[in-house]
Amino acid sequence: MTARIEQHPDRPAANLGVRIAVVSASVRKDRMGPVIADWVIAAMDESVEVDLIDLAETTLPDDSLLYPGGGGTTSDVAHRIAAADAFVIVTPEYNHSYPASLKRLIDWHYGEWSRKPATIVAYGVHGGYAAIEHLRGVLAELHVVTTRRVMGLPAPWACLDEHQRYAPDDGIRGGLAGSLAELRWWAEVLADARHNRPFPA
Ligand SMILES: Cc1cc2nc3c(=O)[nH]c(=O)nc-3n(C[C@H](O)[C@H](O)[C@H](O)COP(=O)(O)O)c2cc1C
Repeated sequence: MTARIEQHPDRPAANLGVRIAVVSASVRKDRMGPVIADWVIAAMDESVEVDLIDLAETTLPDDSLLYPGGGGTTSDVAHRIAAADAFVIVTPEYNHSYPASLKRLIDWHYGEWSRKPATIVAYGVHGGYAAIEHLRGVLAELHVVTTRRVMGLPAPWACLDEHQRYAPDDGIRGGLAGSLAELRWWAEVLADARHNRPFPA
């Protein structure tokens, strides 16, 4: 699994383009997550900068170091979350929610998420909508706006092509395009607002 760009520590100015972090949440051996993340990245507009944050390659500090109000001392990916204007969260559904790896990533950061949009691409036997709805409530606590359009992919392992790439029908491809277009709109609006409008305390 490859990202199109290397990480960059500075948040771009609002008029210099949009940077989107794709968070791939599964850390299982032989996971489906990278296949779905690659499909999402391939669908993203070429003008968008993409940073893939694969949680299987991310080591977070021990949870005993978490601050009481959220966030922690530091993490290896804090600057990459801070640099993003928007997020695509690619997550499996485990027991009607999202995995613990993703909750740890969320809890280990606070201001890095704030006042940015996210869309969710979930998958599972039944499409992952329980994971999506749990995530919406949690992300709202971090001042993350989720798009109305999100993707729930039922049994994506049944839609692989001869190269083991995810190859869904036109309806699912169109759904992703709509979610990404909505995300881009929010990313541009909120990047401008973060720079130019004070946020109520
Ligand atoms: C611990 C566990 C719990 C699961 N629970 C659900 C579930 O509640 N709903 C569902 O649709 N699929 C569930 N599944 C199936 C996963 O969504 C499916 O195996 C998916 O491929 C996992 O993503 P991954 O391969 O990227 O880890 C579960 C899988 C695991 C490992």
